[in-house]
Amino acid sequence: MPLLELQDIEKRFGGVTALRGGNLTVNAGEVHLLLGENGAGKSTLMKIVAGIVRRDAGKMLWNGSEVFLGSPSEAAAIGIAMVNQESLLAPHMTVAENIFLGREERNSFGWVNRRAITEKARHLIEQYGFPLQAEWRVDRLSPAGRQMVEICRAIQHGSSLLIFDEPTSSLSDSETRQVFRIVRDLKARNMGIIYITHRMDELRVIGDRVTVLRDGGAVHTGNLADIPTDQLIRHMVGREVAQIYQRDHLTPGAPLLEVRNVSVEASRLKNISLTLRQGEITGMAGLIGAGRTELCRAIFGVDPVDSGEILIEGKPARLTSPRDAVQSGIALVTEDRQISGLALRLPIGYNVTMANVERISNFGFLDLKSETARSAELGGKMRLKAASPAQLAGTLSGGNQQKVVIAKWLFRESRIFLFDEPTRGIDIGAKAEVFELMSELARAGAAILMVSSELPELMHVADRILVMRQGRLSGELPRGCTQEQIMKLAVMETAA
Ligand SMILES: Nc1ncnc2c1ncn2[C@@H]1O[C@H](COP(=O)(O)OP(=O)(O)OP(=O)(O)O)[C@@H](O)[C@H]1O
Ligand SMILES: [Mg+2]
Repeated sequence: MPLLELQDIEKRFGGVTALRGGNLTVNAGEVHLLLGENGAGKSTLMKIVAGIVRRDAGKMLWNGSEVFLGSPSEAAAIGIAMVNQESLLAPHMTVAENIFLGREERNSFGWVNRRAITEKARHLIEQYGFPLQAEWRVDRLSPAGRQMVEICRAIQHGSSLLIFDEPTSSLSDSETRQVFRIVRDLKARNMGIIYITHRMDELRVIGDRVTVLRDGGAVHTGNLADIPTDQLIRHMVGREVAQIYQRDHLTPGAPLLEVRNVSVEASRLKNISLTLRQGEITGMAGLIGAGRTELCRAIFGVDPVDSGEILIEGKPARLTSPRDAVQSGIALVTEDRQISGLALRLPIGYNVTMANVERISNFGFLDLKSETARSAELGGKMRLKAASPAQLAGTLSGGNQQKVVIAKWLFRESRIFLFDEPTRGIDIGAKAEVFELMSELARAGAAILMVSSELPELMHVADRILVMRQGRLSGELPRGCTQEQIMKLAVMETAA
């Protein structure tokens, strides 16, 4: 008997149909991949299983009997846990407190027994070998660290089904391998695992069976070994995506941005020098924590530079705030779309055309009609799945939020683009579009820095690859270099 069986699940949010024909069968001891485009309904279906969202119609069978789950704790009580796509952790609390949040042991006065939960957390962390400390505060952790806390939180009460919603989208290669090890470990303990991902390079490393959702319904299910990747992609996006990485490489033109001996003490950046040229996509690799995001923040004027200088088109620039950077033609597409990229409570259209820093410049005289048309065109190009530009950004699927962030910057027609993990969490069809847009920007004379932890895409898209390690640039590799060469530069010191 399957562990979990979903039959014809339906769900609507107002005018949006998120699910119709949501079918899925998961057995104990298997890793079941759930694939599909952004907005296909994957997270919604899983939230129904985890008691976060209630279904409108359809059946959910758990060990053969129908269940209705009214809350996550009801799901937890029967053995279902989910690691969420958006972190739901309490930032000011410790790792231990977050792991046991809502399930703490209390003494007779109702106080949380801090010592007991810290001890329990330490035990759990050791058991799985996570690089965490029970006493650390969660807001000091990297996205990877937070992800690990989410995983601890989900496994701590002995579940028999664990749902991972894009667990590795913010992780580096070595951290991803750690997650794989955990997943295999859980599988060996006969747990059922549902695993959502947009990373095509990890499907076959981790998955046993697969179900593809499209427009809220299951369109394929079967053994992963029986289906080639191009066919999977066709099921996902409903068309051929032949040329994901295709682009013409141009001869780089004039330097647009020069970073000279820049150091930022607070983020441990040391003596960084690099040049971004017109028509060139400069890739940047490195482990999480190597300083790639910090460098983008420094260039964008978020963190003050302690020494060194930044030149724009050959002239020294004073970038002391994002506003300076934006006015100098710099755009930043951030890794963390929720913190700096997107106003979740505001409509998509607003986010694209006038969000945040853009408002500061004189927008008053712009032709609103052409603005709306242009934002709709960008949305169409990127296959944004939304009811209308009036839909609130916070109600979009994770990947569609990322598309809005990108569209917002494309809309500004900046000349220097810093893409920090641009394809994190977006589907394969949209990835192809983003690469095409980046290529178009380069052709139009923009200079692009592309930070990515997905080595295959860096190797295909970038004209050359810079590698960072521990706050310094550790080397540069030409197009056509190997994954091993990149990794060597990324880890050299620790490996030696
Ligand atoms: N609370 C909500 N209010 C309105 N619409 C919603 C809400 N939650 C989800 N939706 C819509 O339901 C659809 C499915 O979203 P869902 O988050 O399940 O997609 P997904 O497959 O997880 O996509 P992604 O890969 O981008 O994470 C989308 O069109 C989304 O905008
Ligand atoms: Mg999702």
